[in-house]
Amino acid sequence: MKTDVGTQATPGKTTPPCRGATGTDNEHETLIAELQARREKIRQGGGTRRIEAQHAKGKLTAHERIIHLLDEGSFQQIDAYITHRHSDFGMDEQRHPGDSVIVGFGKINGRRICLYAQDFTVLGGSFSEVQGQKVAKAMDLALQAGVPIIGLNDSVGARIQEGVYSLAAYGDLFWHNTQASGVIPQISVMLGSCAGGSVYSPALTDFVIMTQHTSHMFITGPEVIKTVTREEVDLETLGGAATHSRVSGVAHFAADNEDQALDLTRRLLSYLPANNAEPPPAIPPTDNPARMDPDLNSIVPIKPNQAYDMKTVIHKIFDLDSFLEVHENFAPNAVVGFARLHGQVVGVVAQQPAVLAGVIDIDASDKMSRFIRFCDAFNIPLITFVDSPGFMPGVAQEHSGIIRHGAKIVYAYAEATVPKLSVVTRKAYGGAYVVMSSKHIRTDLTFAWPTAEIAVMGAEGAVNILYRKQLEETQNPEADRAQLIESFREKFAKPYTSAASGHIDDILIPAETRPRLIAALELLRDKQATLPPKKHGIMPV
Ligand code: HXC
Repeated sequence: MKTDVGTQATPGKTTPPCRGATGTDNEHETLIAELQARREKIRQGGGTRRIEAQHAKGKLTAHERIIHLLDEGSFQQIDAYITHRHSDFGMDEQRHPGDSVIVGFGKINGRRICLYAQDFTVLGGSFSEVQGQKVAKAMDLALQAGVPIIGLNDSVGARIQEGVYSLAAYGDLFWHNTQASGVIPQISVMLGSCAGGSVYSPALTDFVIMTQHTSHMFITGPEVIKTVTREEVDLETLGGAATHSRVSGVAHFAADNEDQALDLTRRLLSYLPANNAEPPPAIPPTDNPARMDPDLNSIVPIKPNQAYDMKTVIHKIFDLDSFLEVHENFAPNAVVGFARLHGQVVGVVAQQPAVLAGVIDIDASDKMSRFIRFCDAFNIPLITFVDSPGFMPGVAQEHSGIIRHGAKIVYAYAEATVPKLSVVTRKAYGGAYVVMSSKHIRTDLTFAWPTAEIAVMGAEGAVNILYRKQLEETQNPEADRAQLIESFREKFAKPYTSAASGHIDDILIPAETRPRLIAALELLRDKQATLPPKKHGIMPV
């Protein structure tokens, strides 16, 4: 059972006070009692009634969330006494020490972090001028110390009573988020209905974790939507965890409840370095590096149109129980997540043949490219498993910009300087071969399984294009077609042609993939690679 929050906890015995010129025991005790009373008031936030209302909604208070998240007794609060400076609309009667956010620093699994927790019991956690100042201070400290920043978000958005002061504070927060991007990990945990400005900052951070049913994210709520577009939608459908973790992709994780969301935050951090100058945290290996799972040898069906589960492949290759999937339910035709290989953190990117045959569509492009860029920014090696028939055909995808969205994947891989390894398990057709960590965009070592098919397109499509006229004129088109497909397959539906030309570095017996990847990763541990000097590239967003 964790106890109260860090420095805000009532201290035990105090040092015996000096006498004489520095005062009496009594005077010192009075001063300390006053401080204790102030600390207690701060802990009460917006008061008992609002705390009860918060609990009734199935939500913890900001204090309780911090206690759950951090290592026991590690929280150090700052700016607990600051109050807002506004008087209009009765605000002079609504001053709470600390205002609507708690900020400070502490430890998670012994590692340092900075955090802020919006206090919904104080004016709905609304973003005020001083909330902005406090959060900016925590972010500056995090940047200077080189440690992650975690936001526990529960805010109605801009504080209406403060007008442009609130909007300016948001602008300052977004500036801070942008400065910190790629320097320290930024995690947003959404724990209430967050509206307006309070969803933009999370969108600028690296990971968004939502809770089912008690958190929501939207720019404008159901009422405004009804007025403007006449659409009727409830809060959950509009911006609940299911919507954002499956449909919009705004949320990377959807937890069942607050406890689970905070535990997940602790787990996520265990894969991340404190900043971009550090390697990710390795742990002593717990799994046999030579382990070869024979099931892998037959996991890919011989028939090219039969599905299999790429997640099973991932679980069998990486350290036992080490895979933390990111964006699990968004674009499930692609799979991304963190794992450990012989104790080292790696980023895994893969297609999922069990969903839409692993085709690459717009959402999968966004999902993979974003994850690749995160890993590259934070020195996390990338291991890619390829099985995709290519980019998703169709008018809707073309008109929605599959060209520029798909280009993000190749941009992200080509820009990434971390160690890069790839394994083609089955189909690597056309664009899917090129963009999915191919040799030519500087993947360090490329492997294939004997089931790999590396070609411009599938055998049937290729024969239909190349031999259409010939087959129209032949006596026995179906038999001829079958024969052509077979000879096409013989040449391209095996990886030896690609290995013979050096485009693939080696063909692996699937079971030996784990030890071979461990050896490759070890070789590349101190890889040095740089990009040409530039201010920044122009990512095809
Ligand atoms: C100040 C606010 C407030 C606001 C609500 N409150 N919104 N105070 N500024 N923007 C106060 C309420 O008066 C109430 O005070 C307390 O916060 C809790 O609000 P409730 O409505 O009682 O809570 P709940 O029923 O849980 O509903 C939560 C909600 C709803 C769904 C989020 O409050 C809501 O729809 N609010 C409007 C959200 C919104 O449109 N925000 C956008 C702001 S514009 P008491 O005293 O009773 O506890 C914006 C633009 C920034 O953010 C752009 C930057 C780029």
